[in-house]
Amino acid sequence: MRALVVEALGPPESHRVAEIPDPVAGPGEVIVDVKAAALNFPDLLMIQGRYQVQPDLPFVPGSEGSGVVAGTGAGVDGVAVGDEVSFLSVSGAFAEKVSLPAARVFPKAPELSFAEAAGFTLTYATSYHALRQRADLRPGETLLVLGAAGGVGAATVELGSVMGARVIAAAGTDEKLEFARSLGATDGINYSTSDLKDAVRGLTDGAGPDVVYDPVGGHLAEPALRSMAWGGRYLVIGFAAGDIPAIKLNLPLLKGLSIVGVYWGSWVEHDPAGQAANYDDLLAMVSRGDIRPRVMKSFELEEFSEACRVISSRLAMGKIVLDIG
Ligand SMILES: NC(=O)c1ccc[n+]([C@@H]2O[C@H](COP(=O)([O-])OP(=O)(O)OC[C@H]3O[C@@H](n4cnc5c(N)ncnc54)[C@H](OP(=O)(O)O)[C@@H]3O)[C@@H](O)[C@H]2O)c1
Repeated sequence: MRALVVEALGPPESHRVAEIPDPVAGPGEVIVDVKAAALNFPDLLMIQGRYQVQPDLPFVPGSEGSGVVAGTGAGVDGVAVGDEVSFLSVSGAFAEKVSLPAARVFPKAPELSFAEAAGFTLTYATSYHALRQRADLRPGETLLVLGAAGGVGAATVELGSVMGARVIAAAGTDEKLEFARSLGATDGINYSTSDLKDAVRGLTDGAGPDVVYDPVGGHLAEPALRSMAWGGRYLVIGFAAGDIPAIKLNLPLLKGLSIVGVYWGSWVEHDPAGQAANYDDLLAMVSRGDIRPRVMKSFELEEFSEACRVISSRLAMGKIVLDIG
């Protein structure tokens, strides 16, 4: 099969598509014929050895996708050859076939194309878990989303609005804010041209947001935290800006704030039943037309480095997808 193979850690342009043997399903595993795979920020970190989880070399990157089940190993129940699925993997999605534990394969929402379904699971499941279990977001609360046009940010704008919050989108360009408005944001802040804390305060009559969703980190974290309402929940999602912020602990003390870590991939291991219930909720939202992944652009597997450049240059709005099958 064709696969993008990381022989040595390095930048996107250093990795090539190669022929490698097809995977074989072990006990409890399924083989998926991959139709499409979504590119996520952690993939860019992993190929360079900068992610918190690192497969042994050589490896095939790619953490989520969609396709058709082509084989099952011993002891697999509830998944059958021919099923259309979305799937999650630590690595392996940027290939024509992938082998996965059966628990990492989910029914594809019938309303979605394979390209849309490829980028559905990780982004929406992360954001829904963050808003629901970690922030306990309530209707009528104000939610500030940083990086609001990126993969998890865009999903959060949609979900926050469906959950009845007032969503303030914050992003680096006006074009991205327009995109976030099309997903349900009621207000937008361009943090490249305005002071984030002052702008948030201005939009909320000084009250501040109840929940902040932060996948960006860096220099945005402290002004976002300082802008918050009493009793707010600050969701630590990721550090796309590169720097992990250091926050003085008097800030949460002064406002009764909670700084809440979100690690969806680990939560799935701790609470598979909770994840299954969340996924059912998300499928119902797709079926009602409340949410729908936005695919900005699809690339061929051979165009991997161009696809990465869209993300690393901060040009992505919604999902970047590799068209594989
Ligand atoms: N905790 C979890 O369970 C979990 C799950 C999934 C993802 N994540 C993390 O969430 C973060 C975002 O992932 P994603 O897939 O949504 O990424 P993405 O689509 O690339 O979005 C990240 C956003 O960050 C902003 N940004 C600011 N500085 C940047 C820089 N130097 N390079 C790239 N982007 C920059 C960009 O928005 P502007 O240009 O508008 O600033 C961009 O839209 C990553 O750190 C990822 O590891 C965490």
